[in-house]
Amino acid sequence: MCEKLIRTLQVSLDERSYPIHVGPGLLTRGDLLLPMLKARKAVIVTNETVAPLYLETLTATLAKGGVSAQAVVLPDGELFKNWETLNRIFDALLGTHCERSTPLIALGGGVIGDMGGFAAACYQRGMPFIQVPTTLLSQVDSSVGGKTAINHPLGKNMIGAFYQPRLVLADISTLDTLPERELKAGLAEVIKYGLIRDREFLVWLEENIERLLARERDALIHAVERSCANKAEVVAADERESGERALLNLGHTFGHAIETGLGYGEWLHGEAVAAGTMIACELSRILGWLDARDVARIRALFTRTGLPVQAPALGVERYLELMRHDKKVQDGRLRLVLLQEVGRAVLSDSASDAQIVEAIRRVST
Ligand code: NAD
Ligand code: GLY
Repeated sequence: MCEKLIRTLQVSLDERSYPIHVGPGLLTRGDLLLPMLKARKAVIVTNETVAPLYLETLTATLAKGGVSAQAVVLPDGELFKNWETLNRIFDALLGTHCERSTPLIALGGGVIGDMGGFAAACYQRGMPFIQVPTTLLSQVDSSVGGKTAINHPLGKNMIGAFYQPRLVLADISTLDTLPERELKAGLAEVIKYGLIRDREFLVWLEENIERLLARERDALIHAVERSCANKAEVVAADERESGERALLNLGHTFGHAIETGLGYGEWLHGEAVAAGTMIACELSRILGWLDARDVARIRALFTRTGLPVQAPALGVERYLELMRHDKKVQDGRLRLVLLQEVGRAVLSDSASDAQIVEAIRRVST
């Protein structure tokens, strides 16, 4: 193992601070994982797709350190991010006499991480939680920052808790098996960091997007590390989303409406975020903050990445109805993440309903 390829960052939250390790081959790194466990038994929550690929490796790493792991293998998909599946985790935890000190390790993408984290937050009012993200999206976003949740038929991620992991182990080698469509969806969240707060990274992405699509290891390590560094800074400054953290939701208000409106699982989260970001960009243009060249530049990057830049035609009324459930609604007023310029996002309630409708119309043909 080449130590030079492993990057370690810190999420600074006082006594709840934790490291994020990024690099290849980390599933076998008992030296990084075991010191965080402090127990002889652990539970691994994963799904039917990831288990055949990586469960044995992780279980063997734990066993070498004297930790016996029991697996909870869930059905795969956003469709299963719900109460029924969550209850299956609780059934397994109770059925095998897990204690409050038993660590729960989430091995999988954002669905497993969000659901496993929520289970860990609730079981006996909180058990130690470790994130082992295996999709690009979960490595650059969902595994960091402690947002855990399940979906409700009326809204995405509506039932959940803030619950920080003790460790994030982002093994870049697991991305080798990731389907192409999932890789592209993950890149939507990577591009997001450039758009909201890291212009230099955006330029790097414009120069290196083909290397990322080709899964060049150095490029992936850089993109995951830089994304996590951005996320760690934002979370450290605003853990509970009373301000800056909301900016991480660029494109998400429209994106969640697309996901819920089409039915969970139809569009991938990252795809919905890309199209949602284009609506946010059009609205920023209508407000006079971006110009046509800025919007074209952002559209070009999403297009090169193979992400949708047109939103589905759900109908403007349906969009507005779905957006009313957004977590950024305050006193009944919708606040949206918009771009004041490329590389600088703001949370704003300055768009009128007519301007929002116009932006949705322009992008959802
Ligand atoms: P996902 O968890 O559904 O994973 C995508 C697909 O890839 C699944 O079929 C999964 O089984 C498969 N998979 C996972 N790892 C694999 C691998 N290494 N090789 C092959 N296949 C693999 O989706 P996702 O994009 O990882 O996460 C999306 C979820 O994350 C959404 O539910 C979204 O709401 C949530 N999310 C949460 C946060 C947060 O801050 N908590 C942030 C962004 C997104
Ligand atoms: N993905 C948005 C957040 O973690 O706040």
